[in-house]
Order: sequence, then structure tokens, then C-alpha cells
Amino acid sequence: MKSDVILGLQWGDEGKGKIVDYLAAKYDVVARFQGGPNAGHTLEFDEIKHVLHQVPSGIFRNHTKNIIGNGVVLDPVIFKKEIDALKQFQIEPFYNLFISKRAQLILPTHRLLDAAYEKSKGDEKIGSTLKGIGPTYQDKTARIGLRVGDIIATDFKNKYQSLKEKHIKLLNLYEFEYDLSSIEIEFFEALEFLKKFKLVDAEYLINQSLASQESVLAEGAQGSLLDVDFGSYPYVTSSNTTCAGVCTGLGLAPSKIGEVHGIFKAYCTRVGEGPFPTELHDEVGDKLRKDGHEFGATTGRPRRCGWLDLPALKYAIMINGVTQLLMMKADVLDSFDEINVCTHYKLKNGSLTDAMPFDLCDEAVTPVYKTLKGWNTDITKITEYKSLPSKLLEYIDYLEEELQLPINIVSVGPNRAQTIFKNNG
Ligand code: GDP
Ligand code: IMO
Ligand code: MG
Repeated sequence: MKSDVILGLQWGDEGKGKIVDYLAAKYDVVARFQGGPNAGHTLEFDEIKHVLHQVPSGIFRNHTKNIIGNGVVLDPVIFKKEIDALKQFQIEPFYNLFISKRAQLILPTHRLLDAAYEKSKGDEKIGSTLKGIGPTYQDKTARIGLRVGDIIATDFKNKYQSLKEKHIKLLNLYEFEYDLSSIEIEFFEALEFLKKFKLVDAEYLINQSLASQESVLAEGAQGSLLDVDFGSYPYVTSSNTTCAGVCTGLGLAPSKIGEVHGIFKAYCTRVGEGPFPTELHDEVGDKLRKDGHEFGATTGRPRRCGWLDLPALKYAIMINGVTQLLMMKADVLDSFDEINVCTHYKLKNGSLTDAMPFDLCDEAVTPVYKTLKGWNTDITKITEYKSLPSKLLEYIDYLEEELQLPINIVSVGPNRAQTIFKNNG
């Protein structure tokens, strides 16, 4: 067996949580391969609406094993809160959640450093979620980080102390004021809690699952345009959010990658700073935000909104080797007379391109739009593909032609049930 992948093709918040939760019904294993508590994945079904941050979105399916892979950076304090919040749903995370011993630990001082670095950047801040993501990945590549497997070692406290002291020197250098006392107590309590879970060699677990014909779905966090190598650098996160991250973040060989599901919204959003060519600063952007309830699932910040960006989507499809597409939040466009799609970027020298420039910040591209007719119909109760309005089908046909890939799922609302498969229609 090979592992399928679901990952975001834009700047995150494409609706990965909803779809992974939905598809988890037919997978034996769901695994997160990167990111950490910067992610906010929303699941909605029956009367439940729930946001997950580090726990994979297969957790509501009792038969599914959920793995937090080695590529993830894990905050034990947030993890404890997440598990506590899940107790009300009578699910069994002690039984079906597995955590890689190789996942890096987010320390309280990583979070402080994140805040100190952002503060020092002034107007050039990234707009980080301030969860300590960047500093933790920094320590990982500097080869001084602490891993989940370390917490059971007898000398863990010494290792912690030594890294904390390094961090404190940096915090002092940045003249950043802090009070560690209460958050440190919380951290050590959360580590004791974490010890009760299955801390495993997840690379073996996942490869053995595939070898015994179990189906595996890798769940991305963030989006391709936030990838540390291919995103709008430096306004990115600190991990590889793209398909290659599945291999390094779970210990899967490239030959073990199966279907790559690329997920995108029918328009675009971005939260935090950084270039966003199709951003709308007018009432149309406000309407997208209002109709799409575009406020961050992790930080509550209003999301920046704009039209769909084909050059960016084509780039993400290429980097990830996407094999099929899923279009989310089509219903948010239900009451637009006209819908714009950016087909090209106009560069400073006047030429047109549908390729991603080296530096979107420097290049200041002007989007060139094609205008399509809206469908002006409430699609939220439609359950069959063939019942979708013709203007929406034209929108889908147009995108499939441009992107040279099938759009196999169209999502028409936040609920699990509001998911339409093309081939069931
Ligand atoms: P993720 O980070 O990719 O999992 O996405 P988020 O959960 O951060 O943001 C997606 C938001 O859109 C959540 O509030 C979802 O409940 C909601 N959502 C998902 N799919 C749809 C859809 O098809 N239509 C609408 N209106 N909302 C959706
Ligand atoms: P999900 O998985 C949207 C953004 C932040 C910031 C930049 C760097 O829910 O799609 P970081 O905290 O990683 O240092 O922040 O990345 N960002 C996200 N934006 N969705 C996310 O995750 C994000 N995770 C990080 O807003 O601009
Ligand atoms: Mg999100």
C-alpha cells in the first residue's frame, strides 16, 4: 500500500480538517507530518464543531489510528488542553493516538522567543501565530532541540535546563521581559500527562501499517504557499508543508506516496503578513470575509480575502505532484454576480506570466483577471453533483481545464454532510 496525502494549496485554512475528518472514515491511519499548534483544523458534524491543533483530524473515528509524526513540533501544554477538550466526546485518544518519539518539543521559552523575534522585526513581522514554531524548528536544525522521546530519560531536566539557559541568553539579548514561573509548572505537568500516551517509533508503525495493507492518509497543516522553501519567503512558516514533507515528516519513502489530494478554496485567504497578489481591500473582500466567516481558527484574527489565484495554484500543484483536487467553500460565492479568477501576473516590466516569481515581495505583481458569471443560488443543501447550478459547473470545468486535473470533491458548507463527490453524482 501507499500513503495518500491531503494538503493545502494556498496559504492555509483551506478546509483540511473538515475533509480529513470526512475521509478518515475510509482510512485505517491518519498522520500529521509537520507543523504544530499553529494549525487550526475545524471539524463539524452532527451538532459538534471542534477545532484541532496538533491532534490529527481522524481522532473522531474510533477505528482510525492517529499518528503525530516526527516532522511535527509538539507543545505539551496545548496537547493536554486538546485532549482534555476531547473528553466530552467519549472518544479514546489514549487508545488510538500515537506520538513519534522523534517529534520536537516546544518549550515555554520557544514561545517567548517567537514573541521576542516578532517584536524585534517591527513592521516586518511575519504575523506568526506565536506558538513557538519558528524557534523550535530552528533548534531542530541547530541540533540542540529536545524530542518527545527525551522526556522519559532520567537526565531530561538537565537537558531542559541547558536549552532553557541558551534561550534566556537570547531573550536578554532581545531585552524581552518574561515571567517563566507559572508556564514552567504547567509545562512539567503537561509532560507527565504526555508520558501516559503511546510514544512510539512512528516511522516503523506507519511503514508496518502500509506493509500490512492498512490505508494511510497524511494530513498537511498550513498550505503550500507557506512552505519554508517554496512559499512567499520570508513570510512563511518554518516547515515543509508540501508533499516532500510527508517523506521526511513520517519516514515514508517517496515510492510510498499514493494519491496527492490538493485542497483549495474557491477563492483565496491569508492570515498574517506577506504578499497576496489577489487580495481585495474593498467591499468585495469584506463580503468574502463575512460570508466565509474568515476568522482564524487558532488566533481569531480576521483573514485577508481575495480572488482565486491560478498562477499560485499551478505552482503548488507542480511542487506537490497533485493528482486530484478538492474545492472548498464554493457556497461562499453563492451570492456574487461575477467571480474573478487571476489567470496571470503582470510584472513591473509589463510582461505577463503565469509562473511564480522568485520574490513575490519585491516583484509586486498586478493580477490579470478573467471574469465568470456567478450562480446566485444557495448550494448548501445540494447533495448531488449533477444538481449543482450550471454556472458553478462552468466554473469547475474552467478550473479543471486550466489546472489540468479533476476536481473530485466540491464542498458546499462546513458540515461533514455538505460534501459532494463528482463521481457519485
Ligand atoms: P484548515 O486549517 O484547512 O483545516 O481550515 P480551518 O478550519 O482553519 O478553516 C476552514 C473554515 O471553513 C472552518 O471554519 C470550516 O468549518 C469552514 N469550512 C470548511 N469547508 C467549508 C465549506 O465548504 N463551506 C463553508 N461555508 N465553510 C467551510
Ligand atoms: P492551518 O493548518 C493559516 C501563518 C501565520 C503566519 C505564518 C507563520 O490551520 O491551515 P508560524 O506561527 O507558523 O510561525 O506563522 O504562517 N500560519 C497559518 N496560516 N493557517 C495555518 O494553519 C497557519 N499556520 C501558520 O499566520 O503568517
Ligand atoms: Mg486552519
